[in-house]
Amino acid sequence: MNNSLKGHNTFGIDARCREYREYSSLAELLSLCHTLQKPYLHIGQGSNLLFTKDYDGTIIHCNVRGIRLLAEEGTDVLISVGGGEIWDDVVAWCTIHGYYGTENLSLIPGEMGAAAVQNIGAYGVEVGDVIEFVDFVHLETGEPRRLSAKECQYAYRSSIFKTSLRGECAVYSVTLRLSTIFTPHLTYGAIAERLEGQEVSAQTLRDTIIDIRNSKLPDPKTLGNAGSYFMNPIISDASFKRLISLYPDMPHYRLGDDEVKVPAGWLIEQCGWKGRTLGRAGVYEKQALVLVNLGEATGADILRLQEAIQEDVKKKYGITILPEVNAI
Ligand code: EPU
Repeated sequence: MNNSLKGHNTFGIDARCREYREYSSLAELLSLCHTLQKPYLHIGQGSNLLFTKDYDGTIIHCNVRGIRLLAEEGTDVLISVGGGEIWDDVVAWCTIHGYYGTENLSLIPGEMGAAAVQNIGAYGVEVGDVIEFVDFVHLETGEPRRLSAKECQYAYRSSIFKTSLRGECAVYSVTLRLSTIFTPHLTYGAIAERLEGQEVSAQTLRDTIIDIRNSKLPDPKTLGNAGSYFMNPIISDASFKRLISLYPDMPHYRLGDDEVKVPAGWLIEQCGWKGRTLGRAGVYEKQALVLVNLGEATGADILRLQEAIQEDVKKKYGITILPEVNAI
């Protein structure tokens, strides 16, 4: 196993794989499928991955590039994006060209294809909200397919590519539906504090979000991490009522009458984990949702920290928090 994956995961874990293959077009992807043998794993920029051991199989990466205007429909535009484009370059391009809808997703690490699989989200917006359709090849059958956003079954950090089609799809192109009219979404926590009630341009909103993210989230180039390590748990109204009577300060977001989302970062901080370390793995001091590689950590070190945190949160709040990061 001669291929190092250290540069292919933002945790900076020094795992290896048997084979590493990239494709730059649909034609290359189709011919790759002909010779592909299991096991395989399609990765993006590796910003949501934890290698817990070497990967005895083929790692596949999309290098299809290009962002272009496909069609104009009144005030809507359709933008076609190669699966290998860096997501934040897409946001920058759209904002500069006056195609709006992605600003709140500024500076989220990763590539377009993975963003569509993962349904990345921030500050009240998810990429599934602006996706028109997703083009991919089913790796086992070699069949090219297109799914509409509805067929992708987008939900909080989830899609069909993470459920029934998990591990089988190479997303090589995504089409976004954006608008030439800027409608700012300013109601979410940290942005509301800074911008609500103000007249803002899309560029100001983007710059503000970049600023907020830079102040809270570590740069993987200096401190290995994969952004939010855990998903925010969604609990029943009954559990919520019990907890809020015990912890009246607990932040929460209502999702209709029956469910409430609670920030995992708050739960982890309340359990005393913020800024703490376990071996070479740590909890970031400015955002408890982020686990960091303090240098030379293995995937197993990070997993050990994950489990210790999960256990404490379960003990104190009765809530199971699940990782957003995919452990391989
Ligand atoms: N909080 C704490 N302690 C912490 C962290 C957060 O008490 O250490 C509290 C905050 O005070 C706030 C609440 O938790 O009341 C929410 O915090 P924040 O707004 O920072 O967002 P988050 O819920 O921690 C989610 C996403 C982020 C996204 C932000 C902004 C998930 C798993 N994470 O984090 O996404 O940027 O909202 O929308 O949903 C990512 O997925 O990698 C990611 C960074």
